[in-house]
Amino acid sequence: MANNTRNISDYSKFIVDLRRHMWMAGIEMDLRRLIWQIAITGKYISAKIHESNRKLAGLRNIHGDEQLALDKSADIILQNQLQYSGFVKAYCSEELDRIVPYEAASSKYHVTADPLDGSSLVDTNLAIGTIIGIHRDSPLAAEGRKTMVGAMYITYGPLITMVYSAGKGTHEFVLNREGEYVLSEENITLDEKGSIYSLGGLRKDWFSGHLKFVETLEGEGYKLRYSGGFVPDINQILIKRGGVFTYPGTKKDPKGKLRLIFELQPMAFLTEQAGGMATDGKQDILAIKPEGLDHREPIYIGSRYEVEKAREFLT
Ligand code: AHG
Ligand code: MN
Ligand code: MN
Repeated sequence: MANNTRNISDYSKFIVDLRRHMWMAGIEMDLRRLIWQIAITGKYISAKIHESNRKLAGLRNIHGDEQLALDKSADIILQNQLQYSGFVKAYCSEELDRIVPYEAASSKYHVTADPLDGSSLVDTNLAIGTIIGIHRDSPLAAEGRKTMVGAMYITYGPLITMVYSAGKGTHEFVLNREGEYVLSEENITLDEKGSIYSLGGLRKDWFSGHLKFVETLEGEGYKLRYSGGFVPDINQILIKRGGVFTYPGTKKDPKGKLRLIFELQPMAFLTEQAGGMATDGKQDILAIKPEGLDHREPIYIGSRYEVEKAREFLT
């Protein structure tokens, strides 16, 4: 009888799952376990999106009790998973107004979360996501380059995908039907220059330097790709290997809209690990010391040519 029962070693040659990938990369054990724990939480958040989506469960959830906003539910799911994991010293998220210390003194890592990014898109069925930063110290202690040890995001789209870095490259995994995260793109590396741009903020509120930067890209034939979700918009630039996302400072909001700790630092970490750049127009995002949990900054993030080009118009 043909030997059609491959042994596990044959399969493992083709399917590198998340735990195996992090082990082969030599990532410290508690950090591996923490990243794994967060990746798994994506399954529960995805289930919550399905369960509580208005299109499925009416205006109230199936139990009829008052429905929490999905952002809040996602935050509670993350906290329930991390509080007693033994790896998290403290947790903060854009749904909370303070850093929550967890009792396990031996735990090493401080976790920041945008539990649900792009929540205004839920009813449109466009992709949304979860953004996570992992720090060795409080995210308020110093600039990101000194405190960050890892970052990841989960994209809830036609597939659930997860992109992570622990300082040894940026890699994408897909959640398969068996519930495993399998490697889909390893060592994502951005080209020097891309061909897409993703523009936040209202054109009428842009400063002249930013407008000139955008017009330069338009003159070079860049294609507009903007969904209104930071996670899928950044994910598109990483997977297409280049381009630029910007949510600039505007006349109405000179510091822009996006939050330094919960959104910008993790994406800057991942993008730099993929050979790209992330600035506020002038200085690196990871060189900015956070002044507080609600610290916002303009963002120019993506491949080097475009982010450097922006700097020419903004300094
Ligand atoms: P969140 O849902 O976590 O508040 O984030 C929404 C953010 C970000 O996802 C996106 O890039 C930006 O809002 C879009 O802003 P506009 O709606 O002003 O374009
Ligand atoms: Mn967000
Ligand atoms: Mn959010």
